[in-house]
Amino acid sequence: MDRDRYNTPEVRSSGTLMWHGAARSVSLLGGKQLMNILGISAYYHDSAAALVRDGDIVAAAQEERFTRKKHDYSFPQNAIDYCLREAEIGRGDLDLVVFYDKPLLKFERILETYVSYSPSGFKLFLMGLPLWLKQKLYTPRELRNGLGGEYEGRFVFLEHHESHAASAFFPSPFDEAAILTMDGVGEWTTGSIAVGRGSQIELLKELQFPHSLGLLYSAFTYFTGFRVNSGEYKLMGLAPYGKPI
Ligand SMILES: [Fe+2]
Repeated sequence: MDRDRYNTPEVRSSGTLMWHGAARSVSLLGGKQLMNILGISAYYHDSAAALVRDGDIVAAAQEERFTRKKHDYSFPQNAIDYCLREAEIGRGDLDLVVFYDKPLLKFERILETYVSYSPSGFKLFLMGLPLWLKQKLYTPRELRNGLGGEYEGRFVFLEHHESHAASAFFPSPFDEAAILTMDGVGEWTTGSIAVGRGSQIELLKELQFPHSLGLLYSAFTYFTGFRVNSGEYKLMGLAPYGKPI
């Protein structure tokens, strides 16, 4: 698998994520040069947007808070509008728009998995295919349309666990820290160990699908009658009340 073909210039093949210096330009506000970066998560579950200005989080919101649809996965139009309002800028003032994962790499993993479990897996794959063909495989186009054509800059797609690591380390009070990420699955990665120093994150190790502590947790979430990608927090809350066997 040639994973580097999906990498952006910001993500070095050495696995180092460079946060600063990524934008094509800076904007001028109040005589001071400011860089406005919009982060978007969408088309999976719990769509959200965040606006970072010169390294500081100005605003962040989940789309479901506006639409009142639990786990709303649609393009986070309302959340983006809110972030821009808080920052007092328009879409045209954005220097960079960043998406939280790499859709093509994720599609490759889903395709390989379903094919290896065919014919039963392939049936499930066909059920999910329309959404991929209509929307997810064309994420750059969908993002540009969603932003109403006012944003003419480029889009950066980070790997899922790089986004997790960045969102944990960069807002933290530490200049240097070990970073551990774990979830169900992103593209291929299900967990990673990295080290953050200043404005850089260096990826040291990855655990890859199908090995996943998060998916094991989801299996027990399902087993106990809750919805996957929804009821995990309830299972976590109930766990201390159980008796070890
Ligand atoms: Fe995740």
